[in-house]
Amino acid sequence: MTQETAVLSAKREMALESSAVRKVFVKTYGCQMNVYDSDRMTDALARDGYVATDVMEDADLVLLNTCHIREKAAEKVYSALGRLRELKKKKAGEGREMMIGVAGCVAQAEGDEILRRAPAVDLVIGPQTYHRLPEALKRVKRGERVLETDYAIEDKFEHLPAPDKAKTRARGVTAFLTVQEGCDKFCTFCVVPYTRGSEVSRPVAQIVSEAQKLVDGGVREITLLGQNVNAWHGSGPNGDKWGLGELLHRLSEIDGLARLRYTTSHPRDMDDSLIAAHRDLPQLMPYLHLPIQSGSNRILKAMNRRHTTAEYIALIARIKAARPDLALSGDFIVGFPGETDEDFADTLRLVETVGYAQAFSFKYSTRPGTPGAELDDQVPEDVKANRLERLQALLLKQQHAFAEQCVGKTIDLLLEKPGRMPGQLIGRSPWLQSVNVDAKSSQIGDIISVRITGTGPNSLFAEVVS
Ligand code: SAH
Ligand code: SF4
Ligand code: F3S
Repeated sequence: MTQETAVLSAKREMALESSAVRKVFVKTYGCQMNVYDSDRMTDALARDGYVATDVMEDADLVLLNTCHIREKAAEKVYSALGRLRELKKKKAGEGREMMIGVAGCVAQAEGDEILRRAPAVDLVIGPQTYHRLPEALKRVKRGERVLETDYAIEDKFEHLPAPDKAKTRARGVTAFLTVQEGCDKFCTFCVVPYTRGSEVSRPVAQIVSEAQKLVDGGVREITLLGQNVNAWHGSGPNGDKWGLGELLHRLSEIDGLARLRYTTSHPRDMDDSLIAAHRDLPQLMPYLHLPIQSGSNRILKAMNRRHTTAEYIALIARIKAARPDLALSGDFIVGFPGETDEDFADTLRLVETVGYAQAFSFKYSTRPGTPGAELDDQVPEDVKANRLERLQALLLKQQHAFAEQCVGKTIDLLLEKPGRMPGQLIGRSPWLQSVNVDAKSSQIGDIISVRITGTGPNSLFAEVVS
């Protein structure tokens, strides 16, 4: 080889290396906010040549986006890391490097511990610092083990790329858009104020521009996200503060954006303008996730929820007066410290009174660092299990009753994806139910009129109304 060809081939090799496709595998745990964040991280990495893969074994970078809400969720991370350590070792034996990163709420809460317990981990990055991910990976490449968990002073959303058209198209016709992060409520059972930091609202212009990009990429339905979404108070164009009701009005002006939702809401932050939006905006779907956690006023007080069951019931009546076809979903915790049989009976009574279309329920899980963990009268595991079973039976009965009520109704269906049978499509009802329909002449993204004909265990069946 002459000197010249040697230089040329070295250059070619370098070019190959820099353009080499690197693959990232992201595993998402926890809530919708993590789903949103995982996409933003993937988009940020795409700038550095990373493409997403569904095959963990192929990945040059594995990112676990974790959840700390209950003990079980956090434990999952360590068992996943155990398996990843083996994979990393195996790949190293084949001469292939694999970086391991831990993001999300466990990263934020237990960053040091992760680095100590899991030597295979190269990077720990908390939710406030995702915009620093590409730079952090460069440091890993230089041989550092990186811990990025400070509460960022800068606005990560200004630095993270908004979803582009092609990626949005690939992700489908519904999308999440985080408008608010963090929480200042400090419910005594909950880790979120510690993992996600204090409440931050994104400004109106940022949100509207991102929503427009989503719609340009074919999105028909946007769900606004926040740990406490109805506490959103963003700066408007003139620096004035807007509330969520006003934001929904502004978003409903976007051409082609057919449906809006928002989640999760706190009962204390349902203000008049938000309730009025349910009356005034046909785009705002008649379905609201409004957790109360317990039906006992004594327990609500101990949880620091700062409202009573009577206030909650009155609030629902006001929202339903604005939007009569509104259906509710909620979250419940059984076995909070000090919860008696009588307190639990109050929860069952509240569920009977409200009537939920769907709800999530959990056994109380002691979270280190929260005030609840300090309380003496923890409820025994078998009592919690028994209460959970009874509550879930009631909630499931209500869910089925709600589905049955839908049979015979004509509703709008947003078609989201192909069904199992040829010609079949799966869409979402206004109440977030999955609906199967034979709709050969329609396509994904269409909103069609259908009549509900029957119910299955987890979905509904419908026929097209011509
Ligand atoms: N911001 C929302 C809740 C976010 S966390 C709200 O205020 O309602 C999602 C759900 O997880 C909560 O509604 C609660 O039901 C459950 N959860 C939170 N901490 C928990 C804990 N320590 N044990 C069991 N469930 C918990
Ligand atoms: Fe947690 Fe309460 Fe904040 Fe919801 S409102 S995120 S339950 S502290
Ligand atoms: Fe879990 Fe963090 Fe969401 S603790 S529920 S991933 S905000």
